[in-house]
Amino acid sequence: MSNLRVMSVFGTRPEAIKMAPLVQELSRREGIDSICCVTAQHREMLDSVLRVFSIQPDWDLDIMTPRQTLSTITSKCLTGMDEAIDQLRPDLILVHGDTSTTFAGALSAFYHKVPVGHVEAGLRTYDKYSPYPEEMNRRLVTALADLYFCPTENNRQNLRREGIEKEIFVTGNTVIDALKTTVRKDFTFTTELLNHLPYDSRKVILVTCHRRENYGEPMTQIMTALRRITEDFPEVELVYPVHLSPVVRETAEKYLGNHPRIHLIDPLDADEMHNLIDRCYMVMTDSGGLQEEAPALGKPVLVLRRETERPEAVAAGTVKLAGIEAENIYRMAAEILTTPGIYSAMARAVNPYGDGFACRRIADAILWYFGRGERPADFRG
Ligand code: UD1
Ligand code: UDP
Repeated sequence: MSNLRVMSVFGTRPEAIKMAPLVQELSRREGIDSICCVTAQHREMLDSVLRVFSIQPDWDLDIMTPRQTLSTITSKCLTGMDEAIDQLRPDLILVHGDTSTTFAGALSAFYHKVPVGHVEAGLRTYDKYSPYPEEMNRRLVTALADLYFCPTENNRQNLRREGIEKEIFVTGNTVIDALKTTVRKDFTFTTELLNHLPYDSRKVILVTCHRRENYGEPMTQIMTALRRITEDFPEVELVYPVHLSPVVRETAEKYLGNHPRIHLIDPLDADEMHNLIDRCYMVMTDSGGLQEEAPALGKPVLVLRRETERPEAVAAGTVKLAGIEAENIYRMAAEILTTPGIYSAMARAVNPYGDGFACRRIADAILWYFGRGERPADFRG
């Protein structure tokens, strides 16, 4: 029997971080040839992840341009994938999450009649425009996929309600697998500032903010609140690794620049970021991935969005939705900063998103799908 050719397709930072441990797991598996095709929807931020996890892509579409539009990303991915699939001849294509790369990768697989496995399947807000365009991307990929790897039981229920019955696996989120390899108590940062932040004597708040639906007024509100929090609480030290999107960088510089306790820094490598989460006081973010990582490391999170497709950590009490209005964000952050009981109730390590064995389950499920192994047991959070 010849080896299964499993092609992982990804292109942005979060997909890369969450697919990296899976690519590593697939490479170790007997009976599987792991192939890696990157779209490079993100260039520098993708390359950083590939470096940290020592992954060398077999194919690189290299599509990124400054201020790219959703249409150009999708069309360039689709065109580029034609040749990649023709040359690499995969038996299965894996896509991750909800980016434009994810959608185009799944659509291209369908055009070539290659089955699709969707990693991180079943997340939903049921609001078409929030997150935008991610909510539609993941729903469209649900329609295109053949195998579904859901992080949680709740994600599986979402798919069931939409009429998907078969081939759903609850695996946990692969990001928890990644964290197991990156977080170390004796970690030394290459970004020198992070070795010297006053983690014990001050309250280091880690911030990220990049979502398209927050561009414009919401981002202005968010950043206004962040500045006020820093100004009103002298014990706060704010660290914000700023996304490379020019829109985000201009807004961050305008509202948060030139303050001695606000550190606007370049994007961090994944291992640096994970260790910074581990050492900070709390996280304020509109990121999806950070809502999973911070709870696992026992850090409170205020989500700078109107909704979340990750309700599990909200239910566990570690994450709170702060919305996108300055007044509310300020009030909720102030409450945590001034009420030790509220802080400690949130600062408990919870792991609704995984036990660190998601990649093993996904590889087992793939072998099962092709009739070459046992069906893996589901992750139970
Ligand atoms: C994309 C995803 C979003 C995900 C985010 C993670 C889509 C539509 N959006 O959004 O779901 O949360 O990635 O970060 O797929 N840039 C660089 N270098 C890089 C990366 C980005 O210069 O390494 C700049 C470019 O000017 C690029 C812009 O950032 O045009 C925006 O990148 P893009 O992938 O279009 O959107 P994101 O906001 O990053
Ligand atoms: N991340 C990183 N460096 C940074 C900011 C984020 O490595 O400077 C990581 C973060 O730990 C998480 C992932 O990138 O694993 C989240 O990516 P992002 O917030 O860009 O996208 P989202 O998760 O919102 O789609």
